[in-house]
Amino acid sequence: MAESKISAKILPNGPILISGELHIIHKDGREETKSNVAFCRCGHSNNKPFCDGTHAKIGFKDE
Ligand code: FES
Repeated sequence: MAESKISAKILPNGPILISGELHIIHKDGREETKSNVAFCRCGHSNNKPFCDGTHAKIGFKDE
């Protein structure tokens, strides 16, 4: 069996990009499997926990 690898890349002034197959369990119990998911790091996404690009509109800076 091949070992699956998941990586997390923190993008400058942007989201955390998860690469690899990811099983997500939402707070309401709904489940889905996704790959290459971007999680919001700025706190302003209208589609939390996922990034919707708002970080660029608000000029999010991580430092
Ligand atoms: S990091 Fe992209 S909307 Fe928050």
